[in-house]
Amino acid sequence: MSAQHLRQGDEPGPGPQLPLLHQVVYCSRAAREVDDSVVDRIVATARRTNPRQGITGLLVFGSGVFFQWLEGPRDHVTGLMARIKHDPRHDEVVMLSQSEEVRERLFPDWSMELVTPDQIREVLLDALANTEDEKNTESLNLLLQKIDSNGLGRLMREV
Ligand SMILES: Cc1cc2nc3c(=O)[nH]c(=O)nc-3n(C[C@H](O)[C@H](O)[C@H](O)COP(=O)(O)O)c2cc1C
Repeated sequence: MSAQHLRQGDEPGPGPQLPLLHQVVYCSRAAREVDDSVVDRIVATARRTNPRQGITGLLVFGSGVFFQWLEGPRDHVTGLMARIKHDPRHDEVVMLSQSEEVRERLFPDWSMELVTPDQIREVLLDALANTEDEKNTESLNLLLQKIDSNGLGRLMREV
């Protein structure tokens, strides 16, 4: 992954071409009625709206838990997070990581990728192998530790 993926809407940082990125990672408990078709609708909305806002990331759904990584310009990510928090399709939103840094995007090509719980470890390890950014490495290692010690399904109980 490289700076050539810089998206429209990114605020340029002081480095050569890296953007100032706001990053939010959270997990939440899905509402009882949430099934794959509900999740497909959420992903369709995300794929329609996120590119206009310069937001990229991934969404994991499994064991009644959502896990989402969002990255993009601060105002857009904050605005989206405010809408997401009030969404009745889930509750108990727990922030796992939140930061604003000049850094490369971890998932530059994903307007919102749906990842299954058994793929998440591999996806995060792949991102780790591809980033040279210290902050990204830190966040990824932290999440991998959480997932390795308790599994995604128990993430909610652990935090
Ligand atoms: C777990 C979860 C993740 C979501 N992720 C996104 C997202 O990445 N982008 C998005 O536009 N909406 C996402 N949504 C949907 C928003 O909560 C909201 O319904 C949508 O942005 C439309 O908002 P509006 O009806 O206020 O315009 C998500 C909802 C849930 C429950």
